[in-house]
Amino acid sequence: MLAARLPSALECGLFVLPETGDILVFGPGAEADLSDLPKDRVLIIEDFYPDCKTWKNRGYRVEQDLPDTAAAAIICMPRAKNLARKWVAEASAHVSGPIAIDGAKTAGIDSIFKACKKLTLVSEAFSRAHGKLFTLPFSPERAGAFADWHADLAAGPDGFITAPGVFSEAKIDKGSAILASALPEKIGRRVADLGAGWGYLSAQILKNEAVQTLHLVEAGKTALDCARRNITDPRAQFHWYDARKVTLPEPVDAVITNPPFHTGRAADPALGQAFLINAAKLLTPKGTLWLVANQGLPYEATLQEYFRVVDQVVLESGFKVLKATAPKSQPRAAR
Ligand SMILES: C[S@@+](CC[C@H](N)C(=O)[O-])C[C@H]1O[C@@H](n2cnc3c(N)ncnc32)[C@H](O)[C@@H]1O
Repeated sequence: MLAARLPSALECGLFVLPETGDILVFGPGAEADLSDLPKDRVLIIEDFYPDCKTWKNRGYRVEQDLPDTAAAAIICMPRAKNLARKWVAEASAHVSGPIAIDGAKTAGIDSIFKACKKLTLVSEAFSRAHGKLFTLPFSPERAGAFADWHADLAAGPDGFITAPGVFSEAKIDKGSAILASALPEKIGRRVADLGAGWGYLSAQILKNEAVQTLHLVEAGKTALDCARRNITDPRAQFHWYDARKVTLPEPVDAVITNPPFHTGRAADPALGQAFLINAAKLLTPKGTLWLVANQGLPYEATLQEYFRVVDQVVLESGFKVLKATAPKSQPRAAR
């Protein structure tokens, strides 16, 4: 919770903002409170589509790529440690002033504090609300100190390309593998993959030559950029968008999904449920939704509400594959 620490860090001089220039804020998430910063100088670095939209609606500038230079930065600790390190390396290379690093203990702030301390000059850490904020003051050596923390696209599982912080970055998700092997040969000509990640499920779908069009919908731009590298098949169309709201140029015969069920660190089955509700709107009247989920996730009631026929077709290693056919709602008009 940045708001619990940032005002005090600014007030006590732990984090001194330069008088001019952009202040980069890496990955604040939609809930962060940035009201202690001069709004016109804040440039949010965010790649998750719904959060980008939220911040833009609040009147902030949002980018996915870093500008050449900035005056200061705040890094909000992400879930993935290698992504946190990447942001520290990038900020160190682009920022000519102080960098604040803020996060909860559960997000690994203590371990990054120790790791930074070994490499460069760091401030004291200000602790409050189960988290810490500390800064890396500017020094000419700072960028070099973190040179080894730069991480970009990486060799992922099975020859696929992945990147720091994307889902199943180092190994194929067991649930997705189970879903892929449960899919029938006759899946339909037009297919959509909601929450496509770096493209594992989509790559399996495209092995089927009867598929003519595959829409990959993914909110994480980095993940979708990996998918673009992993899938060069002309049948694929890529959509950086919110799968809960996306519309497609034409109704599809099948939707496949391994829906997310976390918002930040908190479990949020409503997120997955919203994927299923939108899937019903994307399908043809006889279309089918295929999804995999942890056995305990509550999706059946939503499926019963939005589809005429619902079956569990696989139960394996704690995962279930559900098949839902014939959506009750009509397909939404084209975008
Ligand atoms: C469980 S992962 C599945 C990834 C991939 N399909 C696979 O099987 O490896 C869920 C994916 O949904 C994405 N996601 C989360 N919220 C989203 C949203 N609102 N719209 C689109 N994608 C979203 C996540 O970034 C993540 O890549």
